[in-house]
Amino acid sequence: MNIVVIGTGYVGLVTGTCFAESGNDVTCVDINEDKINRLLQGEIPIYEPGLTELVKRNAASGRLKFTTDVSGCVPEASCVFLAVGTPMGDDGSADLSGIWAASDSVAPYLSDDAVVICKSTVPVGTNRKVYERLKEKLGRDVNVASNPEFLKEGCAIQDFTKPDRVVVGVMSQKVGKILEELYKPFLRTENPFLVMGLESAEMTKYAANCMLATKISFINQMANLCEVVGADVNEVRKGMGHDQRIGFQFLFPGAGYGGSCFPKDVRALIATGKERGLTTELLLSVDHVNQIQKDVLFNKIERYYQGNLKGRTIAIWGLAFKPKTDDIREAPALVLIERLLEAGADVHVHDPIAMGNVKAIYGDKIKYSDHHYDALHGSDALVICTEWNEYRAPDFDYIKHHLSDPVIFDGRNLFEPEKMFERGFHYSGIGLKQPKT
Ligand SMILES: NC(=O)c1ccc[n+]([C@@H]2O[C@H](COP(=O)([O-])OP(=O)(O)OC[C@H]3O[C@@H](n4cnc5c(N)ncnc54)[C@H](O)[C@@H]3O)[C@@H](O)[C@H]2O)c1
Repeated sequence: MNIVVIGTGYVGLVTGTCFAESGNDVTCVDINEDKINRLLQGEIPIYEPGLTELVKRNAASGRLKFTTDVSGCVPEASCVFLAVGTPMGDDGSADLSGIWAASDSVAPYLSDDAVVICKSTVPVGTNRKVYERLKEKLGRDVNVASNPEFLKEGCAIQDFTKPDRVVVGVMSQKVGKILEELYKPFLRTENPFLVMGLESAEMTKYAANCMLATKISFINQMANLCEVVGADVNEVRKGMGHDQRIGFQFLFPGAGYGGSCFPKDVRALIATGKERGLTTELLLSVDHVNQIQKDVLFNKIERYYQGNLKGRTIAIWGLAFKPKTDDIREAPALVLIERLLEAGADVHVHDPIAMGNVKAIYGDKIKYSDHHYDALHGSDALVICTEWNEYRAPDFDYIKHHLSDPVIFDGRNLFEPEKMFERGFHYSGIGLKQPKT
């Protein structure tokens, strides 16, 4: 099949590459010339494990191309995927300007049989508006489908090629069949291909992300309760998670969820409810709990230093919103950096992959280390914001020797409080019971 993917970010580049890997001819388009030039030179603009090798292999075979020019590739395409960003607008609703620009840009070149498929996460009703807009521009009927993406950054290739399910929203069964054929190579283990209406497909994506965000805010609130009642959230988590109706996934407490999806998708669904006169109390609380949670580490640090952070240096390990990605959008570490700088502290950071993105925001306001141990030099305390593997089994003697205070604030509960106490640390996790002193 001849495929065009508009938008070459985390979703578009993975989608295009995986479709090329399964034998299709794919052209990935972006308006960002620099991004396309880098891709043409074999440089992958994002960090995603396994992606570089796949892009290079498929580009070399001629099945994967990159361009900024829609007119050269869209006329030949049977499927045109829209995978542009849909960021949070000022009022919390999804900013759809990228979707309108992308659909307008392809409209003049669409063949009669082409299907335009929206992979971006868009509010309910958007695909129907894309359909109306294209129909008006073309003066004829047009095929539009919704195909929300469920991949996780850091595991995107695996998620795309072995999805739990594929969801498509269609206006005709014929389009459903075309997409089923396209996805067949990825559904060989009998995971379902679910065909539904446009609105249900759009809503499914929001409902899934909001459920996951709800689980995170729930366990974060339980963790905060554990701290004040003297329980240990790790024990509670195990006690809960073994109940098969609950399970363990997304029940890890932390410093709040971040990334390019959960925060904006929760807010967008709240905005959708508001537009239709429905107050979504649960989602409002999920969002509110998350805002509060992003301050939890700072509050602990401030309490420890009795409100006086001026002149202190705090080392932070991990800046990406989660491991195995360079994505720092809405990352809890950024909130912490902001609060520490406001309080007059110096900040010394390390991240194996995401440091360049943080540098682009903070420049020389903070200090960067290429090795995580170097961030300890001259620092008073250590904070762990992201659970990169290399932080999981550190040399504790080295840490103790180089920090002026043997204190670790751990936003990911990597270590056991008892052992940390024995090692001579003041160790503060999220919702953990403090050892008896
Ligand atoms: N990142 C994820 O983990 C993830 C997972 C599932 C769904 N999604 C959804 O997928 C969509 C894309 O997310 P992303 O993280 O890949 O975004 P991104 O910001 O990484 O990439 C979007 C790309 O689209 C390009 N673009 C914008 N307007 C364009 C236009 N008119 N023509 C061509 N290119 C254009 C941008 O230059 C950018 O390269 C969003 O709706 C997001 O919510 C993201």
